[in-house]
Amino acid sequence: DEALLKETVTQRCFYYDEIPSTNAFLLKHCEELSSGDICVAEYQSAGRGRRGRTWISPYGCHLYCSMYWNLSQGMAQATGLSLVVACSLVKVLNNFGIDGLGVKWPNDIYLDNKKLAGVLVEMNGQADTECHLVIGIGINMSMSRAQGDKIDQPWSDLSQSRVVPSKTELTISLQRQLHEDLTLFEKEGLSAFLTRWKEADIFDGKHVKLLMGEQRIDGVCQGIDKTGSILLKTDKGVESFVGGEISLRSA
Ligand code: ATP
Ligand code: BTN
Repeated sequence: DEALLKETVTQRCFYYDEIPSTNAFLLKHCEELSSGDICVAEYQSAGRGRRGRTWISPYGCHLYCSMYWNLSQGMAQATGLSLVVACSLVKVLNNFGIDGLGVKWPNDIYLDNKKLAGVLVEMNGQADTECHLVIGIGINMSMSRAQGDKIDQPWSDLSQSRVVPSKTELTISLQRQLHEDLTLFEKEGLSAFLTRWKEADIFDGKHVKLLMGEQRIDGVCQGIDKTGSILLKTDKGVESFVGGEISLRSA
């Protein structure tokens, strides 16, 4: 339409049938990329999750997408970014009419209490003034029983939702939403996302346990603060915990 014809396309999509990892691809080429460039693949032979874990990435029926973003203010600004991306993804899926979604701190999206999608933010950069960010998103679209059997925790896919968007529509909407939200994040920080996060937070007000290596901390989840740390009401009062090596589980 008219509006679309007037749009200047400056972002690129690197599309692969097969690739080890869309995140690894963008990280490798980050010096040559512009903010908003994406990489999409049908299959990942070495899809990755947090802390060296594997993202099961079978052929054809799922979305594996990464986007490059240059954070002008350096790496310190990237704290809490996976929460922003999770909010973007929820908004996109909501706009398609999909409900029953939730976010689990710091990087997971749930559908009907089972893991639907994951976010992996990786970065590269030498100075305080520069940060090459790669934002990876994996969404299960239509998982066969045999594919799902390889996943070692409860999972869900979009085929179980009321509306099933096409992979192309989803990718385009996601790219646009991420662009909008990252621009907002650069201007206003995580404060601009606290309400969206709270609305989708599956653990808000719930009893949880926090796993940090050998350590276990019990408490009631009080949401997040504006740096993206999780707030837990423990017997010592309200304590905040920074991401990284922490996993959250229901008590
Ligand atoms: P946490 O981040 O709290 O430690 P997590 O166990 O979900 O939670 P992540 O690193 O976020 O850990 O995600 C990787 C995990 O996700 C894998 O270890 C596996 O259990 C699960 N997983 C892998 N592939 C898929 C997939 N396609 N769909 C759903 N879950 C998956
Ligand atoms: C997680 O839950 O641990 C995050 C999973 C992120 C998976 C996506 S799929 C596209 C991109 N490429 C990768 O290798 N990982 C991310």
